[in-house]
Amino acid sequence: MTSTDMRDEEARAILKRNDKGGYTIPTSGLYPYQWNWDSAFAAVGFAEFDIDRAWAEIETLFSGQWDNGMVPHILFHVPDEGYFPNHDVWQGTGPIPSSGISQPPVAATMARMVLEKDTTVGRDRVAELYPKMVAWHRWFMDWRLDQGAVCVTHPWEAGRDNAPDWDEAMAAITPEGVGDYTRRDTTHVDSSMRPTKYDYDRYIWLVQRGARLGWDEATMLQNTPFRVADPTMTFILLRATRDLIVIGEILGADVRELQGWAETLQAGAQTLWNPALGCFDSRDVVGGSWSGSISNASFLCWYAGIDHPDMRARLAEVLALCKYGVPSLTPDDTRFDGKRYWRGPVWGMMNLMIGTGLSEMGLAQGDALRRSTADLIAEHGFAEYFDPRDGSPAGGSTFTWTAAVWLAWASPTNQGA
Ligand code: SER
Repeated sequence: MTSTDMRDEEARAILKRNDKGGYTIPTSGLYPYQWNWDSAFAAVGFAEFDIDRAWAEIETLFSGQWDNGMVPHILFHVPDEGYFPNHDVWQGTGPIPSSGISQPPVAATMARMVLEKDTTVGRDRVAELYPKMVAWHRWFMDWRLDQGAVCVTHPWEAGRDNAPDWDEAMAAITPEGVGDYTRRDTTHVDSSMRPTKYDYDRYIWLVQRGARLGWDEATMLQNTPFRVADPTMTFILLRATRDLIVIGEILGADVRELQGWAETLQAGAQTLWNPALGCFDSRDVVGGSWSGSISNASFLCWYAGIDHPDMRARLAEVLALCKYGVPSLTPDDTRFDGKRYWRGPVWGMMNLMIGTGLSEMGLAQGDALRRSTADLIAEHGFAEYFDPRDGSPAGGSTFTWTAAVWLAWASPTNQGA
């Protein structure tokens, strides 16, 4: 058996081991529930060897959809005391216990990828999901826009929890009344790889505010303390909306409303251009400042079909500093911290989205990024994330989305696919 075959087999084993029956946990211990975008990536991993299971993953995710269309970022299917904050803190109001915020909407894009693997099986499955996905995208359009760019209302909503993008907005929060709580994440992984207590006080304060307001979007919007327009959400929703249009056309649906959304988001993305930085950036809607971050979210522009000569230059600069792909923060930023979650580490699924976008636009760095991601995983395993300077693994291990990224994109088995 070649080393590639061994990694392929290991990746399949990780997906099967993290499979809890209809949904997949990101990794045992640290993340014992179903996470929204983790699940969408898991689906494309499963699609490499079990199409039925791939569809089940997305279907289970949408079983937690709220009446207002929102699809929560965590579904607490089976209680687990090893995680904090649990549903008793969140008090989500959906059909099954959940958090009260969403996460980057990659599901429609991943559903399209699964559909293209097998359109015969996929057509009926995606037909059931399509109106649910449209309702979720509509929820973003109704509740999360600022000048056409998509905002996050909690750092966890972007999935990039402790990115410097939120530093100014987080500093404006005084986390009064949060009370005592016990973190569980730092019992599973080294605290130097996780957000700080300063961050957690503000994360929990925001959750408590949402729970107190019954997660009513209109009420939460009044005097909102945290609202940041962000490239992760904006580029991913734009891309996913285009994929949803393709799915809708296959199903013979009227996609004109979705086309209007794509136009709005396309224009909104331009409001994230920070001219002083020469890069797409996060914009604090409440405080008014730019974050000044050259991050892996900035480089999702091509994934959304948006090219810019300055972005090509920024990418070349960043890749010259990192052997294994695009870090969550450029290493020449003073805020860079190579092992601390979203303040420096490289993440496989971000490489997948950036690399896919580059390749689709005919840019050679797309394939180079795929090969460096393959090297990263082949040399350092299926970690949650990696130090971009030397590839050393960090965070959780035997990680679902890293296994999925390997199977669906990075593995040499897929070269030329
Ligand atoms: N990423 C958060 C956590 O670490 C929640 O989505 O628990």
